[in-house]
Amino acid sequence: MAISPYFADRPAAALAMIDITAAVAIAMLAAWIGFATGAPDRAAATDVRPRVDADVEIPGEPIQPIPLDLAIDLRTAELGRRLFNDPRLSHRGTISCASCHAAEHDFAGDAPATEEPPRRNATLDVPTIRNSWFSIAQFWDGRAATLEAQVDFPLQSPDEMASSWPEVIGRLRADPDYLAAARAIGKEPLSPELVRASIAEYERSVVSSGSRFDAFLRGQGDALSADEKAGYALFKQYGCSACHQGVAVGGNLFQRLGLFGDYFHDRGGPITRADLGRYNVTGDESDRYVFKVPSLREAALLPPYFHDGSVATLEAAIATMARYQLGRKIPADDIRLIAAFLRSLPGTTAEARP
Ligand code: HEC
Ligand code: HEC
Repeated sequence: MAISPYFADRPAAALAMIDITAAVAIAMLAAWIGFATGAPDRAAATDVRPRVDADVEIPGEPIQPIPLDLAIDLRTAELGRRLFNDPRLSHRGTISCASCHAAEHDFAGDAPATEEPPRRNATLDVPTIRNSWFSIAQFWDGRAATLEAQVDFPLQSPDEMASSWPEVIGRLRADPDYLAAARAIGKEPLSPELVRASIAEYERSVVSSGSRFDAFLRGQGDALSADEKAGYALFKQYGCSACHQGVAVGGNLFQRLGLFGDYFHDRGGPITRADLGRYNVTGDESDRYVFKVPSLREAALLPPYFHDGSVATLEAAIATMARYQLGRKIPADDIRLIAAFLRSLPGTTAEARP
């Protein structure tokens, strides 16, 4: 599978930062899961820096609510929303960011994971951009350190927008509306930096607002049903929250897929370049099959599951995780309860704020 254009740039600085704290994070992880053996030593973990100023800190909980005030610059975010939906960012003027991350599809794609060229990238499941700024890095393999840096990849990838900055900036500068918008926020002349910053600011405004689970965390006991509460308790007891934790219920660690058992052997089919995960970014053998632990905030809404989109239902994804990440079989009733908990996580507000 050739998705090489994607992997051209390496966020070296960000990786260095991540490596420093790896030992600490692995130790924490081992303690949380209670592994007796050395299995987590094989995992490449990273730090759990808080990304936002929390308005509350819920003590003793691995999951924290999404802050209510995100301090978004609304004018910049509105410019970003227009750019995100503008097909002039692609070479042929046919696809925008929203073509793959449509608001009406919860900002995720519904492209089948097996789609053949010219959309070779579709061999990777399209994640939602919602809550993506709470992550330590962008993409399944974390190859973009920030939302700003992420923009360059789809814009320039021959498999996606196949465009270039001179081309894009030339077109946008010919549009009086964009020039006026850049002037209004004091960012003239319209530049690649402004496009990156605006799109990133828009993405930061796209979060799971109104999550019932957050209402529960913030003290509203009746926001969850008894089943959903039981599911959350199981999620913690089984150790899911050792990896899926923090504001985004994930997004703040890198972990190997298949700590117990060989996921890829059992899945069958050829190992694609995308399956190599973080190895494609670092070249380290220990990063083979290592992925960013995905946020589960919107997972209930967004099948199929995993980077390869190989699993169709939430229940099957939970069973797969139990088997390959925790080395155990979870009874069907517990899977049902954990799924009920995961369905309480998504936001209830469909659109982004600006
Ligand atoms: C042709 C489809 C397509 C287009 C167009 C596209 N994306 Fe994506 N996007 C993807 C896929 C596939 C991934 C996952 C790729 C990976 O992880 O390697 C992704 C990942 C992302 C992520 C990372 C999310 C995460 O959880 O790691 C962000 C943010 C994002 N895209 C924003 C954008 C922006 C901004 C644009 C426009 C400049 C854009 N995308 C255009 C398909 C697309
Ligand atoms: C050791 C770390 C670890 C543990 C423990 C863990 N996960 Fe995961 N989880 C991951 C990683 C890494 C992925 C991404 C794998 C991939 O896509 O290749 C993932 C993916 C998922 C997904 C798919 C999300 C998506 O958008 O595709 C779900 C759902 C999930 N995990 C639920 C759970 C549940 C429920 C548990 C507990 C039974 C659990 N996980 C335990 C690391 C972990």
